[in-house]
Amino acid sequence: MTERKVVDSMTETIHMIRPTHLNSAGRLFGGTLMQWLDEVAGLVAKRHTHMNVITASVDNLKFLQGAYANDMVVIIGKVTFVGRTSMEIRVDTYREDLEGMRRPINRAFFTMVALDENDRPTEVPRLIIETENEKAEWESAQKRRQMRLTRKEEGF
Ligand SMILES: CC(C)(COP(=O)(O)OP(=O)(O)OC[C@H]1O[C@@H](n2cnc3c(N)ncnc32)[C@H](O)[C@@H]1OP(=O)(O)O)[C@@H](O)C(=O)NCCC(=O)NCCS
Repeated sequence: MTERKVVDSMTETIHMIRPTHLNSAGRLFGGTLMQWLDEVAGLVAKRHTHMNVITASVDNLKFLQGAYANDMVVIIGKVTFVGRTSMEIRVDTYREDLEGMRRPINRAFFTMVALDENDRPTEVPRLIIETENEKAEWESAQKRRQMRLTRKEEGF
């Protein structure tokens, strides 16, 4: 079975906020940011699996602050956990000012599922855990996964 490290699929994207990204209150439209987050989660999952992937669920979208015209928005995604056919991808979003100072906007956890050629969930490569931090992330992800499965069972 293939194994890959967290760093092998870690992905960072940067967007400059332009007028077309703004809502009527003059801030970054949340739906645009959600699209960017989903794209990063998909890129990380594709890099980890080398397969087609889909988004099964997203947790913890809460926007701590707005972003405005000419701000830079930095989005960093990495795998925290792999199950049999699914992966958890942590996606952190920051607003970066001209001095390079980053302030958090959001942290989301995506569950992505790998698909085989028949569009059925298929086994994903194992994750090589290299650091104490990655070990702690894995353990937290296991708890979140249990909560998701409970939510699913309860239809919530
Ligand atoms: C995600 C999907 C494949 C799961 O289907 P399913 O019949 O429950 O399939 P399985 O039971 O084999 O589950 C596959 C994996 O998804 C996980 N999963 C299923 N539902 C989940 C949920 N609501 N939240 C988190 N993970 C979920 C399972 O735990 C399993 O992971 P594992 O193999 O690591 O244990 C299916 O619901 C689907 O195709 N949804 C549409 C996804 C999509 O199109 N997204 C694009 C945006 S609309």
